[in-house]
Amino acid sequence: MGKIVLTGDRPTGRLHLGHLVGSLQNRLLLQDDKSYDEIFIMLADGQALTDNFKNPSFIRNNIIQVLIDYLSIGLDPEKVTFCVQSALPALCELTFYYLNLVTTARLERNPTVKTEIAQKKFDEGLPVGFYTYPISQAADITAFDANVVPVGVDQKPMIEQTREIVQKFNNIYGETLVMPEGIYPKDVKAHRLVGIDGQAKMSKSLNNCIYISESAESLKTKVMSMYTDKDHINITDKGKIEGNVVFTYLDVFCNDNHFNEYLNDYKNLDEMKEHYQRGGLGDVKCKKFLLNILEEKISVYRESRVKWEKKINDIYDIIKSGTDRAIEKTNKTCDKVKKAMKIDYFQDKDTIVKEWENSIGEKARS
Ligand code: TRP
Repeated sequence: MGKIVLTGDRPTGRLHLGHLVGSLQNRLLLQDDKSYDEIFIMLADGQALTDNFKNPSFIRNNIIQVLIDYLSIGLDPEKVTFCVQSALPALCELTFYYLNLVTTARLERNPTVKTEIAQKKFDEGLPVGFYTYPISQAADITAFDANVVPVGVDQKPMIEQTREIVQKFNNIYGETLVMPEGIYPKDVKAHRLVGIDGQAKMSKSLNNCIYISESAESLKTKVMSMYTDKDHINITDKGKIEGNVVFTYLDVFCNDNHFNEYLNDYKNLDEMKEHYQRGGLGDVKCKKFLLNILEEKISVYRESRVKWEKKINDIYDIIKSGTDRAIEKTNKTCDKVKKAMKIDYFQDKDTIVKEWENSIGEKARS
């Protein structure tokens, strides 16, 4: 069997640099890697509704925003199949059966869900749909027969949960589901990119993001307001690198060429860091350097985005044809699952008749 990639995002807002380094860059590599037969990227609107069910138009609008983010960073609809989760009925069916394979105690141990529940403070109590979304995510992954799931490290518990479900299913019903593997950014520094406030990872709800679609103006404002080192008041003061957001981002985004181009006082980041720590290098200079690097990257996405924003008809066709392809793929898996679970009643009249006759025969004999 071929190798298949599946991943997705909740369409709850435009994508940011945390998504870019945490997962999107891996997807760009995969789309050009010939060892994969098919790559699916899913807009997980159903999962987004588990904590936004009162706000469906917000999710509806963000499906297009996120799709344009994908296209503007260079994910190519010729190489990637984009689809909408809620349009794939097989996922609901699979979830229905997988729910039996997971205990409530196991769900409660999921660290990602635990953190999210604490953050989201569900006033009216915890929605069952939210509580069980790791199970529906297992349906997403297995429905595509995915071997590989490129995600950020925050999704590790979801992959583990999926692997447990696959193992349990195959044990009970016979080898049916494909065992998936998560792939995470190679660069450990890119795990959980911190927000511009330096407080926590970049996250829309914390208002500390730099978006892939950020305008030049607001990018400048955000970089210039980044948290650095609260004790670095005068240029001559010694500076700290640890916890300094500007240097954290430089670690992730800067290479030696950038020094040639934008800051030839230093040959590389180590020299620059050394000067900062020794004292004599001001925050503004560091921030301007970072701004140049980020602007170089984001301006390309921004220009591409402007073009896509004018092509809503093409965008509709991309997501519609991708979703049709995904319906076909996931329905096949669902048929396979139902057969393994012996609930494929209306596919197989002969077996049912034979089984019945045998049981009658046994009764007659006994
Ligand atoms: N839970 C993922 C997120 O919050 C989105 C998602 C839904 C997903 N289904 C998926 C990711 C399947 C990978 C595979 O970003």
